[in-house]
Amino acid sequence: MKKRVIFYLLAAGGLFAGCHTTGQEPLPAVIERGLQVAERQALAMAEKLETQEGKLPKSVAADGTFETSGYGWWCSGFFPGLLWYLYEESPTPELKKYAELYTARVEPAKNLTNTHDLGFMLYCSFGNGYRITHNPAYREVMTTGAYSLATRYDPVIGAIKSWDSDKNKWQFPVIIDNMMNLELLLWAAKETGDTQFDDIANTHAEKTMEHHFRPDFSSFHVVSYDTLSGFPHVKQTHQGFSDESAWARGQAWGLYGYTAMYRETGNAAYLELARQIGKFIINHPNLPEDKVPYWDFDAPDIPTAERDASAAAIMASAFVDLSRLDDTPFGKECLAVAEQQLRTLSSPHYLAEPGSNGHFILKHCVGHLTGGSEIDVPLTYADYYYVEALLRLKNTLTKQ
Ligand code: GLY
Repeated sequence: MKKRVIFYLLAAGGLFAGCHTTGQEPLPAVIERGLQVAERQALAMAEKLETQEGKLPKSVAADGTFETSGYGWWCSGFFPGLLWYLYEESPTPELKKYAELYTARVEPAKNLTNTHDLGFMLYCSFGNGYRITHNPAYREVMTTGAYSLATRYDPVIGAIKSWDSDKNKWQFPVIIDNMMNLELLLWAAKETGDTQFDDIANTHAEKTMEHHFRPDFSSFHVVSYDTLSGFPHVKQTHQGFSDESAWARGQAWGLYGYTAMYRETGNAAYLELARQIGKFIINHPNLPEDKVPYWDFDAPDIPTAERDASAAAIMASAFVDLSRLDDTPFGKECLAVAEQQLRTLSSPHYLAEPGSNGHFILKHCVGHLTGGSEIDVPLTYADYYYVEALLRLKNTLTKQ
């Protein structure tokens, strides 16, 4: 609580005077309000599932059914990761107890070799837990998971395989989302000294840079590689509107992934690509004034199309990160867009009233619209990236 109070007092004392002159709620107050709702909802969620062994929150179905998953679902690590962020901000025994409880539920994922999502599952949960507590048992889980993820790398193609399914359609599918699994590998390279992790992460990022992006720097969702030639044989979508469209969350994953790759490696090519993706998003005529994107930038029913709060939360977190790495005027533009996204997400339309929304934090997300699932619902990853973005913004403001 102490850090929050100091931050709020600084705000009230005029450190962020610019915020007060616009007639808007001061940004530090928006951040604190968002974090307080997040903590109340997360604690209630944690209590609700405490005795349901192995269960992790996922969403609320359109008919109101509360949905959970086990460790094997790609989203299993987000709720424990959210609890670690909240604990870091407000280090109470209760938050720590729950962060440890839910993190432990994800541990069996470390041995999975049938999914590329181990970065999401393990880096968000154990990664944050290890960063904060230095618990050596967490380190073991992450290194084991990194070796499991590395089994999916093909040196002929130079990429990590995303999915095992749909063999008739795709020989070696790689989705843009897979950029989000690379931070775990870069962490493992530093921790273990095993350079294969660096090589895999960088080769995958370079291959994705070469084949996933269109001339306008929007990205395809799925690129499938021919396993003999090593070149793409098909470029399609799975969750977007069409093969040629810009699925909003896919653009968010690309922005976040290349920003993180630049942060961790210092490779200027990654920064340049992150900037170009950011420009595509920010300058897109279909990005609404309030900066929460439609679920696909090319959805046919804009402006009545569904918005995707999860894409906005991921983008906001990535834009704050990018603003800290890019000292050109574009960096400032990124920060302004992130601020607008977080203001919008913190409005009553998107931010849940405590006690409602199945104890998720954000409303109005889209998981897989064309598949008919998770349309206009809360999603655990939207909550994780919303809180991450609030904390990144708070840190950035404090340093200004
Ligand atoms: N990684 C799956 C998704 O973004 O829906």
